[in-house]
Amino acid sequence: MPSRSETCMTSRLAITGDALARAADMLTAGRLVAFPTETVYGLGGDACNADAVAAIFAAKDRPSFNPLISHVASTEAAFRLGSATPLAECLAACFWPGPMTLILYRTADCPVARLTSAGLDKIAIRVPAHAAARRLLQAFGGPVAAPSANPSGRISPTRAEHVIAGLDGRVALVLDGGPCDSGVESTVIDCTGDAAHILRPGGITREAVADALAGAGLRLAGAAQRAAPQAPESPGMLASHYAPQTAVRLNVTAAEAGMELIGFGGIGGSGTLALNLSPGGGLVEAAANLFDMLHAADATGASLIGIAPIPQTGLGEAINDRLTRAAAPR
Ligand code: TXA
Ligand code: MG
Repeated sequence: MPSRSETCMTSRLAITGDALARAADMLTAGRLVAFPTETVYGLGGDACNADAVAAIFAAKDRPSFNPLISHVASTEAAFRLGSATPLAECLAACFWPGPMTLILYRTADCPVARLTSAGLDKIAIRVPAHAAARRLLQAFGGPVAAPSANPSGRISPTRAEHVIAGLDGRVALVLDGGPCDSGVESTVIDCTGDAAHILRPGGITREAVADALAGAGLRLAGAAQRAAPQAPESPGMLASHYAPQTAVRLNVTAAEAGMELIGFGGIGGSGTLALNLSPGGGLVEAAANLFDMLHAADATGASLIGIAPIPQTGLGEAINDRLTRAAAPR
């Protein structure tokens, strides 16, 4: 059984001014609050309070070498935590607030607990766009450390129900903002070198990042300079991440007995639910449905989840990244 540092009653509240004030008070008191962002729900704690951050690791059963993202309300606040670089200033101007996380060197007086960045001298920072997340960050007034609000290695939550299914009794409050828009986590980009490096594909596509940088005369490192899968630069890029309990097989074009097939485009779903990530073959729609459908397929009791082939273009890169991890041997 997982270790549990905090066993508590989990409250669930719709987003209101009172609920946000209560959530901010809980963060100040070192408690954990799950909140919606435009990507997935985050499991938030005061990033400057190492006890609160330790409670996040414990609640998730997360390997402690896996550093967390610090969420703040503005680019100005972000650059108080991490040293701005021309790459970071360019990307922040284009994509913040939004589904992008920048990796920067910690500033000399960065108040964020070392545990939050797992002892690294670099820190991950994000300014989310979701209205409720922004209101919470403003009400709290400091950085909020938040990994996705799921037990480690499981599917990321895109609804308050998913958070409760995975973390009931381990989080004090779940702010229920309904389903997340995107469903794919933020794009993680290291901006500390001569060129930007995408460490984790996500909601902002590689093409969009490259275009933004090129417009400012800056560079995105190409495929050859990316980390090999065996040597992840972003510690979250572990092969066993994002795993449903049921085994997953990719690139399935025809279902077999006992399989819950999640379709895409012309390859329809079959099994109990006959799910399709996007009947029209849209990658944005597929990304938005991805985690919901994996959760649903995982709950059917099928012996195998099959996934139809997804093109490797645009958001397809992030989708296939998640799916490859979900299908990795464990
Ligand atoms: O959309 C998202 O990014 C969501 C929402 C809640 O913001 N959060 C999320 O957090 O996906 P998490 O903890 O599941 O993933 C954070 C990623 C991991 O891949 C982690 O290794 C990487 O960011 N990361 C964090 N700090 C890092 C650092 N200092 N250097 C390199 N990678 C880092
Ligand atoms: Mg996660």
